[in-house]
Formats: sequence, C-alpha cells, structure tokens
Amino acid sequence: MSTLVTGIAELVTNDPDRGAGPLRTIADAALVVDDGVVAWTGSRGAAPDADARIDVGGRAVVPGFVDSHAHLVFAGDRAAEFEARMTGAAYDGGGIAATVAATRAASDEQLRAALAALVAEMRAQGTTTVEVKSGYGLTVADEVRCLRLAGEVTPETTFLGAHVVPPGADRADYLALVTGPMLAACAPYARWIDVFCEPGSPHAFDGDEARAVLEAGRAAGLGLRVHANQLTAGPGVRLAVELGAASADHCTHLTGADVDALAGGSTVATLLPGVEFSTRSPYPDARRLLAAGVPVALATDCNPGSCFTSSMAFCVALAVREMHMTPAEAVEAATAGGAAALRRTDVGHLRPGARADLAVIDAPSYRHLAYRPGVPLVRTLDLDPVVISKRN
Ligand code: NIG
Ligand code: FE
Repeated sequence: MSTLVTGIAELVTNDPDRGAGPLRTIADAALVVDDGVVAWTGSRGAAPDADARIDVGGRAVVPGFVDSHAHLVFAGDRAAEFEARMTGAAYDGGGIAATVAATRAASDEQLRAALAALVAEMRAQGTTTVEVKSGYGLTVADEVRCLRLAGEVTPETTFLGAHVVPPGADRADYLALVTGPMLAACAPYARWIDVFCEPGSPHAFDGDEARAVLEAGRAAGLGLRVHANQLTAGPGVRLAVELGAASADHCTHLTGADVDALAGGSTVATLLPGVEFSTRSPYPDARRLLAAGVPVALATDCNPGSCFTSSMAFCVALAVREMHMTPAEAVEAATAGGAAALRRTDVGHLRPGARADLAVIDAPSYRHLAYRPGVPLVRTLDLDPVVISKRN
C-alpha cells in the first residue's frame, strides 16, 4: 500500500539529488511511502497519487534519528552517583559495577520490560534506529542473555564484554574469557564488538588489551566500535582507525594525531555530548573534527551512569549550543552520521529506496530542535492514514 504524506513545511532529505542547502531540504514538500520504503519526494504540487494520505499540518519532517550508541539492557539506576558528580565527584566508570550487580540479579522479564520502555521512549522522540550494547552482564551467561534481549528490539547489537574488568576478577583471566569463550558464545547474537579503551582507568582496558579484544572480535566476524578517548587522550581513537572500526565513540580528548588519523581513515567520530553534560566534562572539539573533514555522528550513549538521556533532540541542542555545530550539522550527524557509524545505507536519509523512517517536528523547521531546547517537539510519524491536526 502507498501513502502520500503532505503538509510538510520543510522536508530534510539528506539526498544529494534533491532539495537545497546542507540537508537538501524541500519547502512545501510531499513524500510517498510504498510498503515501508520511500518511493518519491518532491514539492507538493508535483506529488503523484497514492492509496492513502496523511497531512502533517505544516510541520517539518526529518529522517528518523539514528542513535548509534546506547546501553539499554540494564537494571537499577545511579541517580545518587549523578547527584554526587554534580557537586564535584569525577566520573571514572567505577559505578558500572553497581549496574552489573543489579543487572545480574534481574529476571529476563524485568530486563525485557525496562529495555522495551527505553526503546519506546526513544521512538516517541523520533529515534527509529538504535544500537544496543551488552556490557552489564560480564559473565558468559549474562552477556549472552543481554544480547539475546537486545536482538529482540534491534539488529544493531554490540558485544561489550570488555566494558570493565568485573569486580573480583583477575584482569588477565577476564581478558582471556572475553576474547575466548565469552566471545564465542556472544558472537551469534551480535553484529558488533566494542571495548572501553581507557588506559588510565583501573576499570577499563589499555591499548594492547583493546587491540586483543577487537582483533578477536574481527576474527569472529564482528564489526568494530571503540569507546575511545573519553577520559583522557589515550590510544583508542588511533587504534579504531588503524583497525578500520566503523566508529570511535566519545572523542572527548583528542590530539592532533588523533584528528589526523580520523581524517585519513574510514572511521566515524561519534560524539556523545549528553555524557559531557551529565559528567560535567569539557565537550569534544567538534569544529576541529569538521574542519578536518572527519565524518561526525551524534548519539545519546543512553546508560544509567554517564548519561541517562534517550533524547536525540537534546543531543542536537547540546551539539549546537556547546559544540558550536550549526543546526544543520547537528541534524545531519544525528541522522546520516549515525547511519554511517552503523554502516547502514537504508536509514539516515529520505532518498527513494530508503526505509520510510520519518520523524515529524511540531515546528516549521528542523532548526527548532536546537532553538527550542527541552521542548518535546519531535516524534516518530506513524504511517496510519489519519489526519494530524494543523499547527496553530
Ligand atoms: O559510554 N565509558 C563507558 N561506558 C559508558 C558508561 C557506562 C556506565 O557508566 O554505566 C559510557 O559512558
Ligand atoms: Fe557508551
């Protein structure tokens, strides 16, 4: 069945063959969806007919957000840790152990319900693709369980057994487990492998350990992602580029050599400004990355410790206000950038042939995502043929 969507004040296509400006926008636009796929975009006057119609009442439509970094399978919360940080405590990943204990103690049903609630929260705010990591189980059985649950809500599942060395475990033994039996058990449930590379941290992994994890994951057929340079300018970013990882995430502390490596490689720099907001840390230098031609993505990093937001719109607003990205750069990073970080060509844009993942903004332009911070303007467009009321 085909559906004609009209009343689009501004359509962000990210389609080099259509529209104008950095996001290839079309004013007073229409779009046809056929069997869940974008079939046509253009100006309203030229729209073809379709089986059903939806009028979005003068609102902007953007590609659904692609949130390429999230930790959604966990139990418990760490509000007290957040509160302590706001009065001066530093974030060092030590709190992850508390979430690991709560997650291990939770039933499948409890984890499934909490995960579904977060995915629904994201979807209600315009996110249509989300990556979900394990990393709060840290035993073979618990990591498999977390990935199985993640696979129920997304194909973008990431094995993060190398999140931290679990309390009480021997570092070398745990690394052997993660790169051996745990990887073998988890690989069938994962598309990606990730590692928290932070040499200064007693909890996370140094460059050599991270390399061992990533090489083992690659040999098991997984794509690579890295938690890199979050707390210090360590080797994570350069390692990610050297090994051809799809994404180096955080990039909070970058040297010139890191930026040069990213500019010369194929790895996306995924920025997570909600983390800097929620840990009271300096923001990554997005302008430096953009000036060097590095592909940039924005993601929430939704997790109970360093950043418990599910809102891509909030991250767009932070990127504009705190990282000096233009609204267009931020929206591109939250859509096409996220898709590139997941090596997906079917999402993040609205070219004919794309998945019909549409987010509608209760405003005439995508700029309002940053201009009206904290206002719940954006939601995923349900393609049931109903008429949405006009904007006032
Ligand atoms: O991306 N840095 C490591 N992992 C997460 C935080 C996990 C947690 O604190 O629970 C992050 O910030
Ligand atoms: Fe993370």
